[in-house]
Amino acid sequence: MRVMVIGSGGREHAIIKKLRENKTITELYALPGNGGMAKDAVLVDIGAKDIENIKKFALEKAIDFAVVAPDDPLVLGCVDALNEVGVKCFGPKANAAIIEGSKVFSKNLMKKYGIPTAKYEVFTEMDKALAYLEEAPIPTVIKADGLALGKGVIIAMTREEAKDAVVSMMQDKIFGASGSQIVIEEFLEGPEVSVLSFTDGKTLIPMVSSMDHKRALDGDQGLNTGGMGTIAPNPYYTDAVAAECMEKIFLPTIRAMEKEERTFKGCLYFGLMITKDGPKVIEYNCRFGDPETQVVLPLLETDLFTIMQACENGTLNTLDIRFKNENACCVVMASEGYPVKYDKGFEITADELPETAELYIAGAKLDGEKLLTNGGRVLGVVETAASLQEAIEKAYEAVKHVHFGNAFYRKDIGARALLAYKENN
Ligand code: AMP
Ligand code: GLY
Repeated sequence: MRVMVIGSGGREHAIIKKLRENKTITELYALPGNGGMAKDAVLVDIGAKDIENIKKFALEKAIDFAVVAPDDPLVLGCVDALNEVGVKCFGPKANAAIIEGSKVFSKNLMKKYGIPTAKYEVFTEMDKALAYLEEAPIPTVIKADGLALGKGVIIAMTREEAKDAVVSMMQDKIFGASGSQIVIEEFLEGPEVSVLSFTDGKTLIPMVSSMDHKRALDGDQGLNTGGMGTIAPNPYYTDAVAAECMEKIFLPTIRAMEKEERTFKGCLYFGLMITKDGPKVIEYNCRFGDPETQVVLPLLETDLFTIMQACENGTLNTLDIRFKNENACCVVMASEGYPVKYDKGFEITADELPETAELYIAGAKLDGEKLLTNGGRVLGVVETAASLQEAIEKAYEAVKHVHFGNAFYRKDIGARALLAYKENN
């Protein structure tokens, strides 16, 4: 089988490494991938949003199966384009990827089908949004409708901040066209849980839960980032919460999408908040999370490619998907200054890295034999172990063996989760 993976981050590296366990895959390409994946896949210099050239490449190499990992190509219709030329894909078509591509769509879907989420209002006119804010409960949350590189959400702690957020989105267009429509929603409180799931549109199998750490600095301080580390499973996602999510959120969501003639196939990601009134949806993503994938896939026992094929051909109900009863921790090593401004081009080296440690490379490029930093999030260091405590300790031990100029990372990945275990006991 000839397989290609679209995307270039740590998430794609984790997918590629897992796919390599399947021996029916004889050729594996990454479009564009990054230098850190060169040992695991053939790198092809075609950007993830360059759908015309992705299609051409697929035909040229007679690709059998494509995994479209990032949100942009999914929302732009990469799966539709590849399907048209006979290439099977893991990932939703554009009409289903809209569940992430438009917050207005996803909020209206949840309202229509009674799926628990924060109360909200939609605005297309700035004056009306500002007038609404005169009376709205504070804190409040302002969201740009479209994809905004994961940054389109502003939590406003005061009325003034809320108004500034509306003006910056709707008038100053800080998130571009994404801000022409906005959602203003109720501020929810409670621990957050990420649940990725496999679905063929009818059957949905949740993967092991995880917890992201989105802020740049320890103690959840600093700016929002793409994610500075993850742990799995998430202690707040108890069996009782899982059962409630399945009944009130997961199945209703795929059934709703089917009803709307937008059958969702691929990885559906539920960003949940466990509020005192039960779990609520904060956001849907139409894809694997990054860096959630880096802790979830190492715990997957069942063959990933088999699952992806079953999601594509509608036979997910025939599979028995298993996860290891272990814990995983991913510490993201970033470039100092991320997510704002940072230098690149430092050599990445690893000395006597423990054998069990996995490195998933995100922002790196090859320069001859050398691997150089080439992005904000450079790589994720992942360890698994019987206990979360041990997984965290092993991951931080492994971090000591990875070196590059201007490296910085959070020292407290998993700390909140450990506390949750202590509180529960
Ligand atoms: P996003 O960029 O959509 O991943 O959202 C970023 C973060 O904003 C989420 O992970 C939550 O921590 C927070 N957030 C989003 N919506 C709400 C809400 N309604 N109430 C409280 N926090 C929220
Ligand atoms: N880690 C959050 C996301 O992938 O959207």
